[in-house]
Parts: sequence; C-alpha cells; structure tokens
Amino acid sequence: MKREIIQTLDGSTTIHIAEWDECYHSKHGAIQEAQHVFIKNGLSLFPNRNVSILEIGFGTGLNAFITLLEAKKLQQSIDYVGVEAYPISVDEVLSMNYVTELNASQESAIFDKMHESNWGEKIDLRDDFSLIKRKQFFEEIDDIDQFDLIYFDAFGYRVQPELWSTAIFERMYKALKANGVLVTYAARGVVKRSMIEVGFTVEKLAGPPGKREMFRARKS
Ligand SMILES: C[S@@+](CC[C@H](N)C(=O)[O-])C[C@H]1O[C@@H](n2cnc3c(N)ncnc32)[C@H](O)[C@@H]1O
Repeated sequence: MKREIIQTLDGSTTIHIAEWDECYHSKHGAIQEAQHVFIKNGLSLFPNRNVSILEIGFGTGLNAFITLLEAKKLQQSIDYVGVEAYPISVDEVLSMNYVTELNASQESAIFDKMHESNWGEKIDLRDDFSLIKRKQFFEEIDDIDQFDLIYFDAFGYRVQPELWSTAIFERMYKALKANGVLVTYAARGVVKRSMIEVGFTVEKLAGPPGKREMFRARKS
C-alpha cells in the first residue's frame, strides 16, 4: 500500500496510508499522542525501576524514542521489544522529524541506531535501555509473563478489526506479568468488551488532544 509522509497538528510527522485513510499516529499531533497515551498513562506508572515493554507496532520508532528520552527522567532501566511485520524504509525514517521536534539532537545517533539495528538482535542503546525489534506478526506473539507494559498501537479498528479481537488480547494478557498494564489510544466499546472477555480490568481515561477517551487495561 502506498505510504506518504504528512505533518500532524503539533508539527511532528507521521505516515499516512491513502488507501485506508489511516495514519501511524493521531493527525492532531503524533508526539502529543505518544506522550499522553504511552508515557503519561503507561510508562510513568513504573518509576525508579526496571520496566520491560512490548510495543505492538514499532512503525516509525517514535514511541521507542520517546520512551528512551522519558525513561531517564523517570530513573528507569528499560528492556524494549518492538514487534513489526512491515518495517518502514530508510527514506521514510530519514523523513521523520522527531529528533528536532523533541529537541533531542544529543540522542540523534540513538534514533538512527534504533532503525539500523538488526531484526531479532538485542542491542544496548544506552546502559539503561536495550532494544529488540522483532519482525513478526502480532498474531504470532507467544510470550508468557514477560512484560510490565504493553503499548498497543495497532492501526484502528475501522481498518484492522481482527487486531482488536479476543484472540489478540488473549496473547497480550498472557504476555504480561501479573499486574502488568496495556495502554492504547482506542476507546471503542467493542474493544473494551474483548479486553474484559480475556480477563483484563479496563479503565477509560481522558484521551490525547483531539480525542475524548482512551483505554488502560490491567492484568489482575
Ligand atoms: C499505528 S502503526 C504503529 C505506529 C508506531 N507505534 C510508531 O510509533 O510509529 C501500526 C503498525 O502495525 C504494523 N502492522 C499492521 N498489521 C500488522 C500485523 N498483523 N502484524 C505486525 N505488524 C502489523 C504496521 O506496519 C504499522 O507499523
């Protein structure tokens, strides 16, 4: 499918899939969305400790990069696994303006390394941040009790309803440790019902700019 780079309302870039009219991030602001959904309502629940994170949809690497920047402030040490079946191209990576928009020129080489690293290989990007990118379908994830936190950032229910099903959320539930947390930008009733059906306790929280609500789910 044809992909094009566009700018979102906070100035940060994202990728738009014309055929689906679907973006990798919120059109209201890619960085704002990532900060709100994944950092404020996810990562910041686990200060001063080691946090193992599973990302559903590594995509442009924005969530991984923001996590690396924020983890330092939260005094965390991070083991990050990013799953992605359709990696973006080098040209697309080069077109993303996250380093500039996040005032992170000192970490610019790390953003590049995130994308240059080999699939399936663990690398230490900093002494407190390891990354493994797994080229894998979400439908194949079979980790058990591995993660404290899941960033569930699949394309929307409108275009990929099968990724918001009990079959997938069951895999997510199993992959989390006890008391583990899954955060997502989504807020549809059908999604909440699937999460509850597999055992999650689900909270509705205020959404990022441009979106009323979002979900946070906990494994009990
Ligand atoms: C909303 S985007 C993720 C955005 C990403 N978190 C970021 O910060 O750029 C969804 C991602 O899921 C990937 N994807 C779609 N279907 C998939 C599947 N069945 N298995 C694995 N990856 C898939 C897409 O290629 C895309 O990168």
